[in-house]
Amino acid sequence: MSKNTLTITDNRTGKTYELPITDDTIRTADLRQIKVADDDFGMMGYDPAFLNTASCRSAITLIDGDKGILRYRGYPIEQLAEKSSYLECAYLLLHGELPTEAQLKSWVDLITTHTFVHENVKSFIQGFRYDAHPMGVFLSTIGALSTFYPEAKKVHDKQVRMLNVVRLIAKVPTIAAMSYRHSMGFPFVYPDNELSFAGNFLAMIRKMAEPRYKPNKVLERALDVLFILHADHEQNCSTSTMRAAGSSLVDPYSAVAAASAALYGPLHGGANEAVLRMLTEIGSIHNVPTFVKEVKEGKGEKKLMGFGHRVYKNYDPRAKVIKRLAEEVFEVTGRNPLLDIAIELERIALQDDYFIKRKLYPNVDFYSGLIYQAMGFPTDFFTVLFAIPRTSGWLAQWCEMLDDSEQKIARPRQVYTGSAKRDLPESRHNPFELERSR
Ligand code: SDX
Repeated sequence: MSKNTLTITDNRTGKTYELPITDDTIRTADLRQIKVADDDFGMMGYDPAFLNTASCRSAITLIDGDKGILRYRGYPIEQLAEKSSYLECAYLLLHGELPTEAQLKSWVDLITTHTFVHENVKSFIQGFRYDAHPMGVFLSTIGALSTFYPEAKKVHDKQVRMLNVVRLIAKVPTIAAMSYRHSMGFPFVYPDNELSFAGNFLAMIRKMAEPRYKPNKVLERALDVLFILHADHEQNCSTSTMRAAGSSLVDPYSAVAAASAALYGPLHGGANEAVLRMLTEIGSIHNVPTFVKEVKEGKGEKKLMGFGHRVYKNYDPRAKVIKRLAEEVFEVTGRNPLLDIAIELERIALQDDYFIKRKLYPNVDFYSGLIYQAMGFPTDFFTVLFAIPRTSGWLAQWCEMLDDSEQKIARPRQVYTGSAKRDLPESRHNPFELERSR
């Protein structure tokens, strides 16, 4: 009769241990009983970059990397991209169920009425150089928002928590648009509460002298779909950062700032910007074979940006939706010439053994930047466009972490590889005295 346990024999002592298996995992804390001597600390698991470590139990998002599946609360991303809206998905991620019509209406009204930021934020953003990277402006300003809402520290007060969740979801587009307008030397545009979430964002980016900005319907919907696709992705680098920072019970603004910093990196959310720079560097489809050769030779640490994924070992389902969306956007904006290079790059990579062997497929970032560029966003703004919707995923995961009775402050152990105990030389002068007497 099979048992849901794992039997481990420690060959150093001949002892055997039986560990319970739950959800196809063992608790690494159960390894601590494995000792050679009674005063041993006990065994740990060692898993740099957490390639095979579950940090939490979560009901929010499921990814099946081999099958290329992504579901928010059980709903396939392809269906949500076609039949839902970003704000409905944000509600779904946070509350676990799709809202009723009445719930959705009050949710949209609630978000819409929190789109303004304190007037002081304007001078805060104006303090940056004109050429400040918008992600640096975004993450700093989100962190600064924590000083405007000191009561947000009451993270276990559900009412206070949800008010600040709403504020963050509603205000990140406003802050993002302000960072763009500042970089262009344009006046800030106040939110237009008559518009949709995506439409209002486009208005705060694009509006100039016209009395009211009217977003192009195709671009407005395309942006809303992009926000749906980027909303959550289980325990990715930035979400893990959100959970770790949040586990110290810091306020959500500071935790979102920390998550934004993680997203900023070129291996994570910064990849969409890096893809565009890569495609521009390649310059023509005739140069694609040489570029692919250089990547395979590891020349200058070159990577095929927008390819590969820690979890997906198949085509990222989001990339498929984005590829289709690109055609709709290009109908309006005109075809982005870099698309031909991207398609040729994908064609060659998907038939090349180097990429096949490593299961490297296009990920969410491979095509998204082409749409953003065609919509007129500058390349260094692309990661901000990722951070806006991911804020709802970060917050949903943060709420789940706070309500998980098993969670506490994140504090991993280490394997120490440094020096054994050694003493400072007796005849030593304290450097502080030398410093003081300079
Ligand atoms: C996102 O985690 C998430 O869910 C993230 C995300 C989300 O929604 O939150 O999906 C968003 O971050 C998507 C990923 C965007 N990043 C990029 O497109 C950057 C390029 N991709 C790689 O840097 C890489 O694929 C990662 C970072 C995405 C994943 O890295 P892993 O899992 O640590 O894999 P690895 O670096 O160990 O690579 C395994 C092998 C290595 O070759 P060998 O040393 O075995 O010979 O594959 C190679 C790597 O060199 N490899 C690549 C490559 N990605 C991996 N080679 C060329 N080009 C690439 N893009």
